[in-house]
Amino acid sequence: MANPFEPITIAGMEVRNRFQRSATWDASATDDGEATDKSVEIIGGLARGGVGLIVTGYAYVSDEGKAARRQYGISHDRHIEGLRRLTNVAHDHGARIAAQIAHGGINSGLLFRGARVAIGPSQIEGHHWEHRAMTADEVEATVRDFAAAAARAREAGFDAVQLHAAHGYLMNQFLSPLTNRRTDEWGGSPEKRRRFHVEVLRAVRQAVGDGYPVLVKIGLRDRSEGGMTLDEGLAALKALAAEGLSAAEISTGIGTGSTQTSRPEDPERVYFREDAAAAKRAVDIPIALVGGVRSFATVESILDGDADMVSLSRPLIRENDLIARWQRGDRAPAKCLSCNKCFEFGLRGEPLECGEEYRLRQEAKGG
Ligand SMILES: Cc1cc2nc3c(=O)[nH]c(=O)nc-3n(C[C@H](O)[C@H](O)[C@H](O)COP(=O)(O)O)c2cc1C
Repeated sequence: MANPFEPITIAGMEVRNRFQRSATWDASATDDGEATDKSVEIIGGLARGGVGLIVTGYAYVSDEGKAARRQYGISHDRHIEGLRRLTNVAHDHGARIAAQIAHGGINSGLLFRGARVAIGPSQIEGHHWEHRAMTADEVEATVRDFAAAAARAREAGFDAVQLHAAHGYLMNQFLSPLTNRRTDEWGGSPEKRRRFHVEVLRAVRQAVGDGYPVLVKIGLRDRSEGGMTLDEGLAALKALAAEGLSAAEISTGIGTGSTQTSRPEDPERVYFREDAAAAKRAVDIPIALVGGVRSFATVESILDGDADMVSLSRPLIRENDLIARWQRGDRAPAKCLSCNKCFEFGLRGEPLECGEEYRLRQEAKGG
C-alpha cells in the first residue's frame, strides 16, 4: 500500500505527499481576475498546512469563459504578476501548485446576462440562460486561448497546469452527447466529441514545452439519461494519455453535482471511486480521486490500488492544516460536514470560508 506521506513524481514534478487540494473557487480575486492579498493568504495556509499539490480555483482562459464572481483570470498578461505571488507562497512552504485553466462554455452566461451571449458547442433547448453554438473559428480561437493561458501559468511559476474538463464546463460540454450536437469535425461521434480535448492538449503542450506537467480534471461519465458512458470517458482519457497527458483527477461529468452532501448515515461515501479505479486500469499515468474523502483510513484504502493521489476540497476549507494534523498523528476524520455552506460566501462575492465555522463564531458571539 502506498504511504500517503510518500512523495510522488508526476512528469518530473516531485510532490511531497499524495494529497492534492482539488480546485476550489475561493472568490478572492478582484472583479478583473487579479489575485489579491486574500488569495495569497488562502494558498499560503494550504501550503503551510501540508498539502502536496495545490490546484488553484478555476482560472478563466478568456473573459467570455468566466463562470462565477471573483474567479482568477489567466486571460491576460496583466494577471501574471498576481499569480506569481501565489506560486511564490506555495513554494516557500514546500508545496507544488498547478493552475486550473477553464472556460465555462454555455455555463458562463450568469455573469453577463443581457450584456453578452454565452457560447458553447451547441445550442441546447431549455438551457437556463441565453447562449449560442460556437463557429468553427471560435472553437479554434478557444483552443488558442487555452494554450496562451498555459504559457502564462508557466511564466507565473506554476509547476503544472490542470485543464478543467469536468462539471459541465466547456470541455465537458464538448465531450458529452447531451451538450455537443455538432455535426462538423467537432462533434457527431465519440472521436469527434473528444477532438477538442486532444487539440487543447496538443496546443497547450506546444505552449509549455515537453516535460512540463499537463494535468486534467475529468468526469468519465455523465449521470443523466443519454449522457456519456464510462467506456466513452475511458476512451477519451486513453486518447489524452497517448497524446502525452501527465496525470488525471477523476471527478464527474453532467448530471451529478461534484459536491454532494453526504448523508449522515453514510459519511464515508466516496463518490467516484469506481471510475478512478477503472481509469487506473486503463492508463499508465498517475490518477487522483476527488469527492467525499473524509478519513485517513479511506485515504489509505484508496491508495491501495484505486488511485495514486487523493484530492480534497471542502475538508481543507474548514481545516487548512488537515494534512499536517494527520501527519502529526492526530488521525481524527476531517471536521467537514459536506453541508455546502461554503458556497454561500462566493455567491455573495465574499472570499471563501467554512460556513459551519462561521455559524459557530456567530453563535459564540451571540452568547
Ligand atoms: C466552494 C467550492 C468551490 C469549488 N470550485 C471548483 C473549481 O473552481 N474547479 C473545480 O474543478 N472544482 C471546484 N469545486 C469542486 C471541488 O474541487 C471537488 O471536486 C468537490 O468539492 C468534491 O470534493 P470534496 O468532497 O473533497 O469537497 C468546488 C467546490 C467547492 C465546495
